[in-house]
Amino acid sequence: MSKKSLRVAVCGATGAVGREMLKVLEQRDFPATEVVPFASSRSAGSSVPFKDAELTVRELKEDSFQGFDLALFSAGGGTSLKFAPLAAKAGCVVVDNSSAWRMDPEVPLVVPEVNPDHLERHKGIIANPNCSTIQMVVALKPIHDEAKIKRIVVSTYQAVSGTGHKAIVELETQVRRLFNGQDVVPDVYPYQIAFNCLPQIDVFLDNGYTKEEMKMVNETIKIMGDDSIRVTATTVRVPVFYGHSEAVNIETEEKLTAEECRLLLAKAPGVTVVDYPEKKAYPMAVHAAGEDDVFVGRIREDESIDKGLNLWIVADNIRKGAALNAVQIAEELLRRDLVRVP
Ligand code: A2P
Repeated sequence: MSKKSLRVAVCGATGAVGREMLKVLEQRDFPATEVVPFASSRSAGSSVPFKDAELTVRELKEDSFQGFDLALFSAGGGTSLKFAPLAAKAGCVVVDNSSAWRMDPEVPLVVPEVNPDHLERHKGIIANPNCSTIQMVVALKPIHDEAKIKRIVVSTYQAVSGTGHKAIVELETQVRRLFNGQDVVPDVYPYQIAFNCLPQIDVFLDNGYTKEEMKMVNETIKIMGDDSIRVTATTVRVPVFYGHSEAVNIETEEKLTAEECRLLLAKAPGVTVVDYPEKKAYPMAVHAAGEDDVFVGRIREDESIDKGLNLWIVADNIRKGAALNAVQIAEELLRRDLVRVP
């Protein structure tokens, strides 16, 4: 960590992820000499809590990045497309939480426990993967290294906080209205989310999958750096505030027993195994919320094939799935002396 001054911009600081980024920077005592929150003109002049102070939110503009070393973005894809290159041009390294840059071959897509070396070739912008992908690859990378994963079949149960602050308010409002015998009018989601499950996250593509499902397919391959892995996904929005859950089935080249898998994951970075069926102990969103680790349980051998496993993977989508992963990337950049645009 050779930098004497380290000025950090948090872009989208009033949103669900932006606020969490500020919290994570504070909790991990990130060595910034200054942290400045940015958002749209709508919230310029408002304040966000950071350490013992309230920071005044500034409007994000073309010339905002002068003098900044690092920018953490979570302000939507359009904002990232426009502002991330301007930041990089001004010498400010961007860690972007949107999907805008993830599949750009010039942009590393990084989960620090999985592919930190990809940071070495950054050109100013680093992408933070999709929340569902992050928690899955943290759990699957050690298994892939040990037994080589051939195929992944994943179904997700995703919390509304992944859609942002407005979606959290929508679920709260719908629950309250339904309990009071009132109608609900969906706004953020196409249908009622309270007491319902929506098998659509993001828009449908020509192949019949949703954009979220194809993110899981394509991002997993890019992060793992292995295009021989076959991936298929069904992503579902559920009426949970915080914490994504995933039922994951894998087929491996080498046989791995459930017990071997448990032992392997128990020593994997960023993973906590919670797998005691006799005590009804397994990972759950309500326990994962607010935590940093990826929780894995319900580890079973898939009895329908020779070499397969079923796992239940849960993590806080706003922390490990977004804000924490972004800050961990920033920490890894510092450790490697890579907070500079080449
Ligand atoms: P604002 O509060 O001013 O709208 P979420 O994902 O929770 O909805 O949060 C989105 C974040 O992105 C908010 O901080 C929001 O700011 C910010 N944002 C949205 N559009 C822009 C923009 N054009 N420029 C800067 N920040 C933006």
